[in-house]
Amino acid sequence: MPIRILAPQEAAKIAAGEVIERPASVVKELIENSLDAGAREIAVEIREGGLSLIRVADDGCGIQPGELRLAFERHATSKVAGEDDLWRVVTLGFRGEALPSIAAAGDVEVISRIAGNDVGARIKLRDGLVIEEGSGAASPGTVFGVRRLFSAQPARLKFLRAPGSETTQVASAVVHYALAYPEVRFTLVADARTTLQTPGSGSLTETVAAVYGADVAEAAILVEAPPPNEGEPGVRGIAIEPRLHRASRNYIGVYVNRRWVKNRALTFAIEEAYQGMLPVGRHPIAVLDVTVAPDEVDVNVHPTKAEVRLRREREVFGVVQRAVRRVLSERAPVPTTSASLWAGSRMPEAPPPLILHSPAVQPRLPDAAASAIPPADATPMAERLPLLRPVGQVGNMYVIAEGPEGMYLLDQHAAHERVLYERCLAAVRAGRPDVQALLEPQTLELSAPHRAMFDEHADAFERLGFDIAAFGDTAHIVRTVPAPLAGDDLSQRIGELLDGMRRDDGPEDWAHRLAASLACHGAVRAGMTMSEREQRELIRLLEEAESPRTCPHGRPTMLHLTSDAIAREFRRR
Ligand SMILES: Nc1ncnc2c1ncn2[C@@H]1O[C@H](COP(=O)(O)OP(=O)(O)OP(=O)(O)O)[C@@H](O)[C@H]1O
Ligand SMILES: [Mg+2]
Repeated sequence: MPIRILAPQEAAKIAAGEVIERPASVVKELIENSLDAGAREIAVEIREGGLSLIRVADDGCGIQPGELRLAFERHATSKVAGEDDLWRVVTLGFRGEALPSIAAAGDVEVISRIAGNDVGARIKLRDGLVIEEGSGAASPGTVFGVRRLFSAQPARLKFLRAPGSETTQVASAVVHYALAYPEVRFTLVADARTTLQTPGSGSLTETVAAVYGADVAEAAILVEAPPPNEGEPGVRGIAIEPRLHRASRNYIGVYVNRRWVKNRALTFAIEEAYQGMLPVGRHPIAVLDVTVAPDEVDVNVHPTKAEVRLRREREVFGVVQRAVRRVLSERAPVPTTSASLWAGSRMPEAPPPLILHSPAVQPRLPDAAASAIPPADATPMAERLPLLRPVGQVGNMYVIAEGPEGMYLLDQHAAHERVLYERCLAAVRAGRPDVQALLEPQTLELSAPHRAMFDEHADAFERLGFDIAAFGDTAHIVRTVPAPLAGDDLSQRIGELLDGMRRDDGPEDWAHRLAASLACHGAVRAGMTMSEREQRELIRLLEEAESPRTCPHGRPTMLHLTSDAIAREFRRR
């Protein structure tokens, strides 16, 4: 076929396709416009996942009657005055692409009234072309209706999921903007049911309660790290205590200058901050807005504005990670318990299945020399344990200790796991893993999927102290292993390690998961008798730990029975 230039209609369809992928894209664009218009109230209504109707009503500044038609022209925007503005965007919109793209994807009707006028201006478009204009009664603000979305694009319709799942995506867009703008009252009505309503009170905690429920809001910790100097990055929002967690990352809301963005690095910074406090494979709940100078962020790198590029990403990463880590460390309490719990009427949650289990391995309580590796990060004192004195062991599972504020019951396995896990990570970070050379190199047979995973993440294994080299097409040869694995059946162990991993995890996730597995494997087991010296050593090591209160899987390492609670139970007060 000869080269030809696309007709404007065709070109517009292609451009629109990039901006509007699904109903949730329309909702996101319309909400952004309402926010840019200064709305204090935004009501979203959808039917059938947004395919038959999307309606977004706001009480914002409205559009001048004479500009309504213009707003639907491609590249028509009131938000950018000149080229310079593009490098310091302070509004959510800046391209003048959204409205023409929406009009190319569905039937549109808008009525908008600015504060000074008595009536609103109306416009109707079909297939991107104006078919009706007029005026009508309206409250100040803008009501935007989209019907029959994608009905002229059967190919796009085919790619959409079931209406229920599109509704979920729309809800996610509304939720994320509601969380970023607690001063705005959001409602979402889906198929005539009100599924979300935020108070618009300005309180993030109240908004979180409306969105995620009161239990989550109660576990909210404020994160407040304003820019130390003008122009430097800052972060604010909330982090939910690690005792609540979710199976997906969808509950980690990341914003840059109050724009909801997808940013792997920042999401990862938040997960890093929770590292070792959550059960393996679970994700935190957090809402965090990063503030950077407008010229430090390029918002014009993605067709739906979902991604942004930060000029000083590493620095921002550090700011977010440290700010979240700090508040979590300050909060993480030793679970305080009542006497009824000691009596066993309410047992803590069952531990997740352990990845490695080998009763044949002797427990090794590390000696002082081995613990000389310094922790990688300095830890605020608040999280440290008070000085504890061991009193004895019960059931060959728990160590009782006395502290300044009562009694502590330590789970010997969980506590030791925590110690070994941190040691393992610190050693990995310092590039000095605790390695055991094998007397004779062993060959390793891995299944094809395991081999593929291993090849992809060979680095993580190496950092932990494995020396494994390919040997022929299908075999590997092992020369060194992390010390806790010495003497094990390596093919089986490494197979198990690989089973515990997830393909899409990043290299850091791998290091953490491997460290957690090794720690679990090397830790003293429940059922082992510990001498008084070993008990003392375990407590001492735990006191030095960075996050002494939970094991790497997120279980508590200890319970605390306060002096007050004891006195109460004995009716001394
Ligand atoms: N709800 C609204 N209230 C007031 N004005 C609006 C509203 N929606 C759109 N507008 C006006 O219409 C213009 C075009 O909107 P559109 O969303 O297409 O572009 P934009 O927001 O400027 O940029 P972007 O394409 O990045 O969203 C806006 O610049 C704004 O002036
Ligand atoms: Mg816009």
